[in-house]
Amino acid sequence: MAKKTIKDVNLQNKKTLIRVDFNVPLNKDGSISDDTRITAALPTIEYAISNGAKLILFSHLGRIKTEADKATNSLRPVAQRLSELINKPVTFIPETRGQALEDAVNKLNAGDVLMFENTRFEDLDGNKESKNNPELGKYWASLGEVFVNDAFGTAHRAHASNVGISNNMDVSVAGLLLEKEINFIGGALENPKRPFVAILGGAKVSDKIEVIKNLLKVADKVLIGGGMAFTFLKAQGFEVGKSLVELDKVDLAKELLELANGKIELGSDVVTGKAFDANTETNVRTFDAIPEDEMGLDIGPKTVERFKEIIESAKTVVWNGPQGVFEMEAFANGTLEITKALANLNGKAITIVGGGDSAAAVAKFGLEDKFSHISTGGGASLEYLEGKVLPGVELVDEK
Ligand code: 3PG
Repeated sequence: MAKKTIKDVNLQNKKTLIRVDFNVPLNKDGSISDDTRITAALPTIEYAISNGAKLILFSHLGRIKTEADKATNSLRPVAQRLSELINKPVTFIPETRGQALEDAVNKLNAGDVLMFENTRFEDLDGNKESKNNPELGKYWASLGEVFVNDAFGTAHRAHASNVGISNNMDVSVAGLLLEKEINFIGGALENPKRPFVAILGGAKVSDKIEVIKNLLKVADKVLIGGGMAFTFLKAQGFEVGKSLVELDKVDLAKELLELANGKIELGSDVVTGKAFDANTETNVRTFDAIPEDEMGLDIGPKTVERFKEIIESAKTVVWNGPQGVFEMEAFANGTLEITKALANLNGKAITIVGGGDSAAAVAKFGLEDKFSHISTGGGASLEYLEGKVLPGVELVDEK
């Protein structure tokens, strides 16, 4: 990688600002329901501790629109969880600026860890964080000597807590998580081992148009399942019953199929239901026989076999978007079989999962360990796959 990382700088006794993405899902009682994003940042945090940095950690959490949002979006429980995970005190400062924060920063010794409050609390005052207010970026930068960006999940945002700080720092480097995300996703896009297979799914074509276009340039095959497949089937002249179709995107789907020149694979059958309901009557239908009163809710067994055949010979796979309504038992099989086929490539190919829903599917089936990389960024990985330059990556100094 041509970007500088935390390993390229001397951290000893340096006040080190580390932007993490601790935007974790919370339960109603305020406890953390999934701490993946915290554990994913541990390599960077532990590296900084053992190299004598004075750690100043910060993140956004949720979106802050009213004063009431503050109570339900404090980073305090996150600081507690982090402290348990690193087995070390984490000083939590419930402010985003001011004397208490500055004093606490100045008291840090080598290896100490401080976390300050949700950066988006600043959004209550003219969206200062989200609009990258120059004064705010400059202020946060003034608290440290080195800036480490490890927040891949936020890399598609140009906010004060990433781009704003970096604009005011002499040294901006990538944390180990950001480095890993760039190496896997960037590596697949720039220099994939072939055959390179992309698997796309999810409800809507409109969310993935740019991803499809970009992947068609670099992938050898693009497998499309999930709700978005029906707009393509419609474009091929099939009747799709009550399945989800974006009628205003049918022409575009036609164009993409032409552009794809045989690279797009849709399979040949679907599992249908009479209604979007876990207990609805199900049927397997070939594409040319979907009845008017049924909707496709999963890829069918022949499609699964075809997709598996293509996956088996792949050397690089990027997967974004479930193949069916995997939350319902009756329509989970396609996504489960694709997850298993990818898990079987363990050690033989690079397998990358991007996007919240596909990552959730892998976790549901308990196969996380069998993948080369599961991205911590939903929106960020999608924009990366679209071929966009992510501001949070761009800000990192070149080697
Ligand atoms: C995410 O969860 O995708 C990131 O943390 C970014 O959050 P945002 O969409 O609220 O900016």
